[in-house]
Amino acid sequence: MKEKVDRSINRIDAPEKTGGYAEYIADMKFEGMLYAKTLRSEKPRAVIKSIDIPLLPEGCYVVDKNDIPGKNRVKMLLDDQPFFAEDIVNYIGEPILLVVGPDREQVAQVLSNIRVLYEEMEPVFTIVDAVKCDKASIYGEDNCFSGYEIIRGDPDRAFREAAEAIEGEYRTGLQEHIYLEPQGVIGVYENERVTVYGSMQCPYYIKTALVQGFGWDEERIRVVQTTTGGAFGGKEEYTSIIAGHAAFAAVKTGRPVRLIFDRAEDIICTTKRHPSIIKIKTALDKNRKITAMEVEITLDGGAYAGLSPVVLQRAMFAATGVYNIPNIKVKGRVFATNNVPSGAMRGFGGPQAFFAIEMHMQSLAESISRDPLDFKMENMLSKGDLTVTGGVLRYEVKLPQMIDLVEKMSGYRRKYEAFINDRGEVPKGIGLSIFYHGCAFTGSGEKEKIRARVKLKKRKDGKVLILVASVEMGQGSSTTLRKIVARAMDLPVEDVIYENPDTDIVPDSGPTVASRTVMIVGFLLKKAAERLKAGGEKAADFKVTEACEGPAELEVTEEYEEPGYIKWGHEKFEGDAYPTYSWGVNVVEVEVDPVTFVIKVNGIWGVYDIGTIIDERIIRGQMEGGIAQGLGYAAFEVMNTDCGNILQPSLADYIIPNSKEFPEMEIRLIDNPYEYGPFGAKGAGELPFIGAAPALASAVQNALKVPIKRLPVTPEYLLKVAEGEK
Ligand code: MOS
Repeated sequence: MKEKVDRSINRIDAPEKTGGYAEYIADMKFEGMLYAKTLRSEKPRAVIKSIDIPLLPEGCYVVDKNDIPGKNRVKMLLDDQPFFAEDIVNYIGEPILLVVGPDREQVAQVLSNIRVLYEEMEPVFTIVDAVKCDKASIYGEDNCFSGYEIIRGDPDRAFREAAEAIEGEYRTGLQEHIYLEPQGVIGVYENERVTVYGSMQCPYYIKTALVQGFGWDEERIRVVQTTTGGAFGGKEEYTSIIAGHAAFAAVKTGRPVRLIFDRAEDIICTTKRHPSIIKIKTALDKNRKITAMEVEITLDGGAYAGLSPVVLQRAMFAATGVYNIPNIKVKGRVFATNNVPSGAMRGFGGPQAFFAIEMHMQSLAESISRDPLDFKMENMLSKGDLTVTGGVLRYEVKLPQMIDLVEKMSGYRRKYEAFINDRGEVPKGIGLSIFYHGCAFTGSGEKEKIRARVKLKKRKDGKVLILVASVEMGQGSSTTLRKIVARAMDLPVEDVIYENPDTDIVPDSGPTVASRTVMIVGFLLKKAAERLKAGGEKAADFKVTEACEGPAELEVTEEYEEPGYIKWGHEKFEGDAYPTYSWGVNVVEVEVDPVTFVIKVNGIWGVYDIGTIIDERIIRGQMEGGIAQGLGYAAFEVMNTDCGNILQPSLADYIIPNSKEFPEMEIRLIDNPYEYGPFGAKGAGELPFIGAAPALASAVQNALKVPIKRLPVTPEYLLKVAEGEK
């Protein structure tokens, strides 16, 4: 038998933990640590004919597809994306190899001397071209990553019998997350095990991806989240790629390997929000009542599928908005292009769909000379009605009260009338959006894919440890989860401990996504806390961790159980697409510069139903941040590409709104407890984003008296619209 040698790797400069101290991945240093930099494709679509690597200086390494012991595919829905390109590249920025070495400048120097010989292929950059093209991505069967259809009632007949049908086409563009902290990981190989530390949302997604990439037993893989400076979906699936890179490099070199992006690299190669084209056609009877709706959603998935199929599903489940439509046809497809892969971003398909449906309803009402808000309210869903997929809305829908409240706060109706008749020098407008967000995973995802588990441990000194895989990424979940447990156990919050997840210690409570953390994981923690308070079980498999110096006395594990009322048929997308919904109403007031078409936001009001509030300050932060990010998407953040090159690769070019851009937001929260959420809480994080763009675009429509059909609403677009272009 081989003698076991301790090959531990030491942290250096590991500071004392004191109150208020946060350690980001860039603060972590290990003995003998090497730096990695990525060689990326310069072509949007090409065959790699050869790679010419100069003689490497001592201590420098190249890590590529040949250094992947398992499968060169990043574990995701369709498993189509390689960690390192094989013989084909499909977008500019696709990783080909890493150069790794002890000196950062030397690494950059080596990298710049590598020559790749490409044989270019015909690339595809737009949705319109992608629909026509046979195959832009080498890895799929055809050029469509996935396509689905939802049919409820008899939409064809309703359209045949309609008195009139009104159509619109809506388009949305790219959006970049701009989390404050760019992506970064460190891979460490010691004692036959790999550990990846990093800024992330989903430690277990990364662990699963590494298990597949290495082809190793899962015991040999460990993933540890470091303090994470924002994510917004951008660290949901993307981080698995670079975690693989750093881990493969660590194993090859036997040294810790650090891979941290600067802003430009981060913008160029990480996922973006899916661009979309959404066509909506509405059938009206002779009394101008809506009898049917047909929605066709097409998304630009970029070069690899990633999470696109689920983003598309979420867009489809939001296709008819908050409206009660008797006959529905929704067709959705996501296509491959040679753009950077699209991926998860706050709202996950919802923002595109709600922009389209809200603008359509506004334009439809205006085209039949109805007041848009009256028309929307007449068609609005309420308790007992069916969702787009035929699920029953089992809980009270408080939209009428919420609209009343936002009307009182903003004076929407009076201003809408005044502005529509106003022909003043500076056009002013006000817009109102009504929306929801489905809480937690779609369909049977929570039950079948995730099966969340949580654990609580109680120490001899009475302190309780929360063991979950859910991360704190600035959204406040650590405080919220601690408050839930503290309240359920009648403990002071200080006695409940939460630390960044480490897959060696925490069970898999699922990814930190889909506005599920508080509602799903928090509810399990509440149940666990109640059982722990009542006694719990003797702790058996206790590991001593930094968070827990003393031995634990008691522990409790809880596992997700689906509420009995949920019925879902995945083949036809029939039934309850979500356990429940959070709701919102958003009003935005603007003025538009008559010469430059620059939009100035003069007022922002929002009313939200997210069940019960656990921590009001955190929720206000989420609502205000979501609105600001949503307004950025609406009008301020412009990301264009030219032949696959991103034209705004820095924060000087890609302008996100700053704190001075917007007036103070007035936010109200409605209490509407959900029986399967902790103390009644539902999902909150994504909801406020969704309503912002349609509210702003409606306000611009009110100001300029022309239909707005594009996001972002840039001055260039408004100039064209004002000149009569459709
Ligand atoms: Mo996500 S967009 O982090 O569900």
